Amino acid sequence: MKKILTITKALGDENRLRALIMLQNGELCVCRIIEMLQLAPSTVSKHMSILKQAGLVETRRAGKWTYCRLADVVDGSPETEIIAWLLRQLGNDRKIIADAARLAEIRAQAAAENPKSCACKKIIMHEAISQMNSTSSFPDRALQFLMSAHDAVPGVTENVLKYGKTVDGRSSYEVLADTVNLKNGMTAVDLACGSGVLTRLLSQRVGPAGQVVGIDLNHSELTLAEARCKGCANVQFYEESADVLSLPDASVDAVLCHMALMLFRPVEPVLAEISRILRPGGTLAAVMPDPNGGNAMFAAVRKAVANAVAEDVSPEKLIAIGSPEFGSESGIRELFDRTGKFDGEPRFSGFEVIFRETPEALAELLMPFFYYTGLLSQDGREQLKNAWADLFRQAMTEGDNMAVFRLSLSIFTICRK
Ligand SMILES: C[S@@+](CC[C@H](N)C(=O)[O-])C[C@H]1O[C@@H](n2cnc3c(N)ncnc32)[C@H](O)[C@@H]1O
Repeated sequence: MKKILTITKALGDENRLRALIMLQNGELCVCRIIEMLQLAPSTVSKHMSILKQAGLVETRRAGKWTYCRLADVVDGSPETEIIAWLLRQLGNDRKIIADAARLAEIRAQAAAENPKSCACKKIIMHEAISQMNSTSSFPDRALQFLMSAHDAVPGVTENVLKYGKTVDGRSSYEVLADTVNLKNGMTAVDLACGSGVLTRLLSQRVGPAGQVVGIDLNHSELTLAEARCKGCANVQFYEESADVLSLPDASVDAVLCHMALMLFRPVEPVLAEISRILRPGGTLAAVMPDPNGGNAMFAAVRKAVANAVAEDVSPEKLIAIGSPEFGSESGIRELFDRTGKFDGEPRFSGFEVIFRETPEALAELLMPFFYYTGLLSQDGREQLKNAWADLFRQAMTEGDNMAVFRLSLSIFTICRK
């Protein structure tokens, strides 16, 4: 029953049906499907991961590219029968006929250009940016905004965080990896792994007998992550959405999530997936901005962003990123209580990542760390930079031009029942 429900849900969307039928004549790179469906890369990735989870599609990665094909299922299985039925029912549909003609054109053009190449990167960048700027009915503007931010600057989070260290000289990625008692042979997931800094650390912690799966929806980030983990035989990457994971039930000892758990909206389906893939007693550990607001300077920096956005961004352009529950410890506790899948009290442990730069350099460095600054006009950004630099001047150390900024973070840990 569960399997049939997953399949029927996967088929309940026109774009997924079109993608499925496109694959009947063989494997396609995700970029071709993006081009055909005229949707943002993140949306197509999500559709493909739903089809994959239903067992209708399989994917493989080759370098920067992800290829999709119809699942290799045995004759007479529900999957083969459903696909054959769809082809019979939709063979004369106008859209399907138009898709077939356009796809033949695209394939011929690609073969003429260079049979081995694929213009993924170009299409993805172009699509992400044009979708952001268009008024087309995008199902999820916040996700689209996040994806275009990471397409524009892959590795954006590590590019900021690599300049800061804790008092004992660790990065926030190391603090997270140190929090979970990972042993040789364990399986760990780096959820929303971005450019793979934590993934690589985890690969060392679980050793050759263990396994690490880095998951992210952003193709550009995963390209960096793959390059970073080249040669780590125990690492695999999945390009899929955190709310539709393809890992089997109860297959993972720990899910770690660095600076991303608070971004998912809605977050409940992501927590349901985390609890599904964790073994009983398995750990979820996440680094996030301090839900208690953090130190006075961090609070002032965040307030300055909120003021700048309120002044500079018109209401129709505003985007709500992330889930409000992450604004307080009690909100997070209630959220996890509601899932009913996690055991006992979550634990919070605050720490600071310390940056030391000139006030102007600090203002420049931190700008991309706060997604909302991406909504500001050029003038708005300049004003915010000046406001921040003024704040940082109040924290200058004597005798040099350097200011100290302490980023207030928190590690949240909880166990699967
Ligand atoms: C702030 S970055 C953190 C990246 C990485 N963990 C790090 O700290 O360097 C957030 C990441 O979440 C990913 N992301 C956002 N929404 C996602 C979703 N629904 N499923 C999977 N990844 C997602 C983004 O692509 C991005 O790589």
